[in-house]
Order: sequence, then C-alpha cells, then structure tokens
Amino acid sequence: MNYQLAPSLLAADYNRLEEQINEVENSGCQWLHLDVMDGMFVPSISFGMPVISAIRKKSDLYFDVHMMTEQPERYIIPMKEAGAQLFTVHAEACRHLDRTLEQIHDAGMESGVALNPATPLCMVKHVLDKADLILIMSVNPGFGGQKFIPSSLEKIAELRNELDQAGYADTMIEVDGGINQNNIEQVLDAGANIIVAGTSVFKGDIGENVRYLHSVIDEYR
Ligand code: DX5
Ligand code: ZN
Repeated sequence: MNYQLAPSLLAADYNRLEEQINEVENSGCQWLHLDVMDGMFVPSISFGMPVISAIRKKSDLYFDVHMMTEQPERYIIPMKEAGAQLFTVHAEACRHLDRTLEQIHDAGMESGVALNPATPLCMVKHVLDKADLILIMSVNPGFGGQKFIPSSLEKIAELRNELDQAGYADTMIEVDGGINQNNIEQVLDAGANIIVAGTSVFKGDIGENVRYLHSVIDEYR
C-alpha cells in the first residue's frame, strides 16, 4: 500500500507560496493537496486553475486536487491542463457520479470520491470499480484548522473492511481535516493510507512538522 502525507496548501502563507512548496518538497513529501472551493458547495472561495498551473511550473509534486465545488465535472479538462493528477469530486455534488469518474479517467487523471462526515459509505458502493481513492472528510469541508470529528475513525475502518471484502484492497483511503501529531496514528490504525494535513504542516517549522508526521507514517509503510 502506498502511504503518503499530502500537505494541504490551504494552510500555507500565500505571500511565500513558492518557498513553502519547496520546503514541502525538500522535506521528502511526494504529494500536494490542493483545496478548490467555489463559494457554493462550501461557503469559502480558495483558488483555481490559474494558481494551480502557476505552481505546476515550480513543482514536481503529485497534485491531488480536492474539488469542493458544485458540478465539478465542468473542471475536469481545465484542471488536467492546469496540472492536476488526481481529481477528487464530492459524491454530494455530482448528479452523475459514475459518468464523472469515467470522464476523469478518460482525461488521464486518477479519480477520487469524497464523502462529507454525514454522508454514508453506501454512496460509493456502486462506483468502486471507477474510483482510485475514497476521501473521508473528518471535518465539514470549507475551512482549514477545524477539529477532527472522532466518528470518522469508525467510518475509515468500515470502509477499509468493505474495500477488502469487495475485492478493492488497492483502493486508497485518504482522510482530510483536523489531522495532527496527536491523532495521526489513530487515523492510520483505522486503515487510511493518504493523510492530508494543513495546519499541522504549515504552522510552525514545515521541515520539522513533516519529519515528525513522516516518522509515524513510516511505521506503516
Ligand atoms: C477542508 C479542506 C482540508 C483542510 C485541511 O475543507 O478540505 O484539506 O485544508 O486542513 P487542516 O489540516 O488544517 O484541517
Ligand atoms: Zn481537502
């Protein structure tokens, strides 16, 4: 299984984007989590294709784009052109999820489906053959720096079990929201393999934060 720490750029200092992305890359991370918000699916607005294509020119990290937008299928091609490699849509925002996942693959990206904390796992049951990754939200999406919702742990464990039973043991489970030095181990124990961390990477010393989080993740690799 591929274990990765995916720092969320949302928590970066936007005055020093290039420098901070370099720090993430130099500290040994391979993924970068990019939170796209449209002010409709979630209240806030973050950034979109222009910013992503600009940082694409400066970084070799794997671009994990988390679409917190209505009708995310509208952005499949533009995001691919901007440099996205994984395109994750919210099940709650897709009227034709199955078709959207197919379109993501057709565009040459890996596909992910995100579930809000209150959305049941059965929402992904019939699209497991088309999803490379399931993203379990451990906060209600929209803002960084929120508190981890403890019931997410049970949901992750249930999903890992269901994936194994259904013959999709290779499907990645990503967890996003409120993960820090104190709870990362519980998230990994529950069965997650991609760990998103915003505040706990970018606040303070990035190198030091990543070193600690990686030291925990390394035990599962
Ligand atoms: C929440 C975003 C998260 C968030 C994580 O809407 O999807 O990726 O930035 O930030 P922290 O780790 O600070 O909760
Ligand atoms: Zn996210």
